[in-house]
Amino acid sequence: MMKGTKNRKNFIILPFRSRDVARIEKMSKEMSKEMLKEFSISNYWRKRLDDFSITYNKDGGFVILNGYQSSSISIDEQHQCKYVGFFEFLRFRGDYFLSQVKKVIYGYKGVSGEKKYNLLVNKFRERYEARVFNDFPLFATQVSVYEWFKVYENFHIIKDLNRKFDSVLEIGSGTCILPALLKKKGVVEKYTAIDLPFFIPHGFLILNHLTDNKKICLPSELDMNCWFKFLSSDDYKDSIKPNSIDLVINITSFGEMNIKQVQDYFLFIDSVLKPGGVFVCINREKKKVNFDQYPWPNHGYKTVREFEPFYSRCGSNKIFRYPIFSRIIEKM
Ligand SMILES: C[S@@+](CC[C@H](N)C(=O)[O-])C[C@H]1O[C@@H](n2cnc3c(N)ncnc32)[C@H](O)[C@@H]1O
Repeated sequence: MMKGTKNRKNFIILPFRSRDVARIEKMSKEMSKEMLKEFSISNYWRKRLDDFSITYNKDGGFVILNGYQSSSISIDEQHQCKYVGFFEFLRFRGDYFLSQVKKVIYGYKGVSGEKKYNLLVNKFRERYEARVFNDFPLFATQVSVYEWFKVYENFHIIKDLNRKFDSVLEIGSGTCILPALLKKKGVVEKYTAIDLPFFIPHGFLILNHLTDNKKICLPSELDMNCWFKFLSSDDYKDSIKPNSIDLVINITSFGEMNIKQVQDYFLFIDSVLKPGGVFVCINREKKKVNFDQYPWPNHGYKTVREFEPFYSRCGSNKIFRYPIFSRIIEKM
């Protein structure tokens, strides 16, 4: 086993209610992975499809969500915190090679990947650690420092816009920890999330757990009283009224789609955003689709803010060469 990998895990364990499982099973029957392969999914996600699965332990009353690339350091291990991974491996190959690789990959501002990661961990302790344990005591140790950092920094990016968002649309909501926090802190009211059908059950189970089972609707369910509604990425276009959304969010997701999907989403965002509504887009500069390839509108919008978030270069297990950009635009 490679040094450091013993602390890695790629699953989340949660309690579940039988009635929720029945709902997920119904949804999964309607949209199996095989069917999904026929639908619109980028090559990036098609390759990752088989990594994700859900195992129910019905007797034990818990569920295991597989597929998350959790980090080599999770929140409960941080006291022996140490960046382990690619660098540790390279060390065995000699310092000269390592320094050359570092120069090519991480030449950015002369700060090494390890230092950047440690900076993130130190900042995390300073800013967010106590809050995570306070806000999500039963879930705090389940995801990595990087994930929590990202959630809380993104939360502040949205909260600092100083508005109450009655209707929110998130495209690619993933584990749904951000909407759980936004709801908990009263920043948002009603929330719609579009995601790949196989990811929705993961987000649903986590969100249920984090929001004390407040009413959430799966794609084929209808309940006017639900605060959160999931829509499938294959069937979302007629489900949201034009000019009805105050805030649209896309975080580290457009970069992993294909260009056609991103173009379709930009058209959709333009149609559903209310005048005065904002779009918060936080994505890596270069990925499968680069930030500057997105079809940014050249009129009818003003830019509210552009910046690089603190967690920009860090990932759960690696340091990235290209930064993450945040751009917030407002519809006039
Ligand atoms: C890297 S995850 C990011 C999740 C979350 N936004 C976050 O920052 O933690 C990318 C998300 O985009 C979703 N996604 C990928 N292709 C999509 C598509 N065509 N439509 C909607 N969501 C998609 C994935 O299922 C996943 O939930």
